[in-house]
Amino acid sequence: MRCHVKLPVTSMRENRTTSMDKNKPSRLYFIGKKDDLIEAKRTNVTLDGRDILMMYHQRKFYAMDLQCYHAGSSLELGDIEEINNKLCIVCPKHKYKITLAEGEGLYKGTNPADEVPTPQWFSKGIKQRVHKVTEVDEDIFVTLSKCPGWVESDYYQTEKGRAELRKAQESEDAEADVNADEDV
Ligand code: FES
Repeated sequence: MRCHVKLPVTSMRENRTTSMDKNKPSRLYFIGKKDDLIEAKRTNVTLDGRDILMMYHQRKFYAMDLQCYHAGSSLELGDIEEINNKLCIVCPKHKYKITLAEGEGLYKGTNPADEVPTPQWFSKGIKQRVHKVTEVDEDIFVTLSKCPGWVESDYYQTEKGRAELRKAQESEDAEADVNADEDV
């Protein structure tokens, strides 16, 4: 698989320590039996401290970081759609589209230079880290991506990113409690 990784730019978030250590030897992580994973369709696993979503769609397995690069929502319940001949998962939170095979962010826009600007799909580049899936004798394995550089979804695999998600969850829970009290 080709590595499509944007090099770090100054606007990217701090605290880039992730479990992606390019010096570590690649390892195959056993995920499960093929039939079980096909039946489950979606499976969450944590490998070497990294949260991964495994998906089975149209007779193929995919693996990518579980938390969406945009704001860390879980992609587990995202619909899968074909956009521009690419299968994409649609994040349930704000509907960002991410290609399953490459982790590329897609968006719809118009080119103002066109005589008649017509909405079309554009690429934001690779935003979500995807991982390699291997099948050996009905067993399914994942090898974590070693693509160098920073991919935006890496942020939610860091301590800082996880703490941010916990805080957001706590405030959502507190808001839900207040609303529940008001309904009484
Ligand atoms: S968190 Fe996924 S689109 Fe915003």
